[in-house]
Amino acid sequence: MNRKVTVVGGAGNVGATVARAIAQKELADVVVVDIADTKAAGVALDIYESCPIEGSASRVVGVGTKDFAESANSDVVVITSGMPRKPGMSRDDLLNVNYKIMQDVTAEIVKHSPNCIIVPVANPLDAMSQAVYRLSKFPRERVIGMAGVLDSARMSTFIAMELNVSVENVTSFVLGGHGDTMVPLPRFSTVAGIPITELMSAERIKAICERTANGGAEITKLVGTSAWYAPGAAAALMVEAILKDQKKIMPCSVFLQGEYGLNNLFVGVPVKLGAKGVEQIIQITLTPDEQAALNKSAGAVKELVDVIGV
Ligand code: LAC
Repeated sequence: MNRKVTVVGGAGNVGATVARAIAQKELADVVVVDIADTKAAGVALDIYESCPIEGSASRVVGVGTKDFAESANSDVVVITSGMPRKPGMSRDDLLNVNYKIMQDVTAEIVKHSPNCIIVPVANPLDAMSQAVYRLSKFPRERVIGMAGVLDSARMSTFIAMELNVSVENVTSFVLGGHGDTMVPLPRFSTVAGIPITELMSAERIKAICERTANGGAEITKLVGTSAWYAPGAAAALMVEAILKDQKKIMPCSVFLQGEYGLNNLFVGVPVKLGAKGVEQIIQITLTPDEQAALNKSAGAVKELVDVIGV
């Protein structure tokens, strides 16, 4: 195919899910790069062997990090490398170990694919995205953290469960950092266009917002490690919007320079995704309470980026 996507850390659960989704959707050829080189080769081969069944012409190869050159001239590089959470750990506990990994992989990505768009997925998401942005020296349009698509998908699932409606009817809106302080916005969350504030009690909405903010920890506790199906699907959806130049609006973590009153910080906001990456940051007017919650969430991200100095 004439498009190429590399998934770094692609032999892990999230990475393999992203790689598989991209191949299944026939979006591009896929290169799986992982420090676990034989596993990368095996996972990639298994996904490739699923392509005749799925009816996809994507080619899939897997290599170790010493063969990063295989990824050369990728259109999009998704970074799923990094330590996942164990039960009881916060995303922030991964800060230093994953920052070191971002340093190593970003250097390789920039060397081999200087014009690509990078989609960081490693946690703590906003701080790791900021690290990749600073290390890559790419323009801000080309470093887009995956978090809001996942968080809003979780919220949509909980709303659909609550109201016993199809998830396809639900659109959810979550702002802020990918952490406990994320900001679900009920008044912009709708079912068939109807704000959920018209359909549920304030108490039920509050419970759904809290469950959304703890959505990652809920899975981690049940499974024993971080989630992968929904995070992988979310990253693949972003890749699809970019490769197909769809101009879809999705919540993503991007480098804000004055938008929403925030400066020089990666925080989740609605953006338009297309071939150039972030093509627009959509700004809406928040109520004082919503703005205060967003500021608090941004403050939590700022604390982390200050620790690693990015
Ligand atoms: C989650 C992890 C991937 O939210 O951050 O599941």
